[in-house]
Amino acid sequence: MMIETDNVKIGGLNKLKYAIIGYPVAHSLSPEMHEAGFKTAGIDATYERITIHPLELTAGISDLKANHFNGFNVTYPLKEKIIPFLDGLTSEAQAIGAVNTVKIENGLLYGHNTDGQGFVEALRRQDFDFNSKKVVILGAGGAAKAIAVSLACLNVYLLILNRTSEKAAALAEQVNLLGGKASGDILAPGTWLESVDLLVQTTSVGMKSEPYLFDLQGINPAAWAVDLIYNPAVTSLLSNAALHGCRTFNGLDMLLFQGVLAWDFWFGVKAPVDSMRKALVDKLSVCSE
Ligand code: ATR
Repeated sequence: MMIETDNVKIGGLNKLKYAIIGYPVAHSLSPEMHEAGFKTAGIDATYERITIHPLELTAGISDLKANHFNGFNVTYPLKEKIIPFLDGLTSEAQAIGAVNTVKIENGLLYGHNTDGQGFVEALRRQDFDFNSKKVVILGAGGAAKAIAVSLACLNVYLLILNRTSEKAAALAEQVNLLGGKASGDILAPGTWLESVDLLVQTTSVGMKSEPYLFDLQGINPAAWAVDLIYNPAVTSLLSNAALHGCRTFNGLDMLLFQGVLAWDFWFGVKAPVDSMRKALVDKLSVCSE
């Protein structure tokens, strides 16, 4: 692969090929986001949606190699299942135990995970200072794990709350092994509400206009509340948080910055953030019409 920065010339004479793989992938906004980025940056590349059933991963990976793909993103339910097929993992992917970004070089596959760092970057761009903050994560699934691992090396106090409290405790233990300061408990309101600085909602509750998990009565009004869901743009948890005075964000910027950080991994160049964000916003406005 040929890379020149500034007057970006990536890929030389060959059109580069990227994709998102998962089951399903029809709903993914990554193609629109990356294609807009390629256009703005002048990168001659395509980005496809490729449906791969988890039981057909071996054949799917062979096809990607045979068809000279340069890299791909990985979504549900393949983020963990892809690992045995990879030739190398970044330390981030290793710690999270899941991969959302792969690059292919000389027929070898290298896996990375930009989900957690994408979340951190999205908040830093809003001038959130993580140092010494109390962060409460609702949920302990894949998304929560990526975020918790990325927060382990920042100086935060992490409380992980999950319906299945054993999973919260296990994730907290993993964060502590990585040098973080975390504890886990059952998903419920509590005294943590008064002191939380950053509330992160990672469960799937709220996607289908369900009622919020619980009322945030008593929440620190200076807290920021983030819901990883971006469709609907305002979940019931976010409107409840806003009602209690919190600053609120949905998951759009996490989606954006996991994509932006994939560019660092694939090309080593800065992604055109504004055009990638615009593509996401445009696509979402069409989806919700
Ligand atoms: P993701 O990759 O999006 O994080 P996941 O790994 O399937 O998805 O995790 C889903 C999370 O949402 C889990 O924390 C799950 O809680 P359990 O571990 O107890 O299953 C949480 N979740 C899903 N439905 C929920 C509900 N109705 N109430 C509370 N938590 C729920």
